[in-house]
Amino acid sequence: MTNQAHSLKFADVGQDVIIWPLAKIVSPEGISIGDSVIIDDFVFIMGGSKTVIGSFVHIASFTSIIGGGEFTIEDFAGLSGGVRIYTGNEDYLGGSLTNPAVPHPYRIPIRSFVHIKKHAIIGANTVILPGVTIGEGAAIGANSLVTKDCKPWTIYVDSPSRPLRPRPQDRILELEAQLHRELYDKKGNYIPKSQREDDYAD
Ligand SMILES: CC(C)(COP(=O)(O)OP(=O)(O)OC[C@H]1O[C@@H](n2cnc3c(N)ncnc32)[C@H](O)[C@@H]1OP(=O)(O)O)[C@@H](O)C(=O)NCCC(=O)NCCS
Repeated sequence: MTNQAHSLKFADVGQDVIIWPLAKIVSPEGISIGDSVIIDDFVFIMGGSKTVIGSFVHIASFTSIIGGGEFTIEDFAGLSGGVRIYTGNEDYLGGSLTNPAVPHPYRIPIRSFVHIKKHAIIGANTVILPGVTIGEGAAIGANSLVTKDCKPWTIYVDSPSRPLRPRPQDRILELEAQLHRELYDKKGNYIPKSQREDDYAD
């Protein structure tokens, strides 16, 4: 297996990062990646103006992150298969021509952002439009369309997305604290798999 974590020139890349060979990453120089991250085959990421991927993040096959704006996904968050994230948009409302085959000034693309906070999980085939923040611990059901911010620790479903019910946070935060005690040293540095006790190595 050729792990692209070691061949692409990222702005920053941590330890225990696996980027499968058939993932396509454009403009890696604008992308920072934390520790213990997995990016599956057939993921497509366009670096955009800035991309920050935290630690313990998984991005599943057939997910794309495009649009030229800023993308942030914090620690312990994940994108299921087929998620489409747009950090920028064309003018759908009639103010200009649209699509990248049309030159400026006839086309006025809007560059924006998407921010996914810690412990959020995005269900399969969900579409997230530009300018959205997914709150800490929010869970978005499969096939949702997210056009507005999602509140922390809330489960959302549907198109457009609506809150379904709260998502309990206590157990998740307890497990995060336990993981930190075991996988980080006293200075707060991540301990890579190769340096851990056998119990924790794969
Ligand atoms: C959102 C989700 C977590 C809710 O799970 P749940 O609590 O077991 O859901 P339920 O089956 O009890 O459904 C509760 C209600 O929400 C609706 N609902 C559930 N998921 C929905 C979805 N993705 N979109 C629209 N409505 C949904 C159900 O139809 C039901 O509505 P009703 O009360 O009118 O009958 C789950 O349905 C889901 O979408 N999970 C994502 C799975 C995924 O993408 N996995 C990929 C690999 S990680």
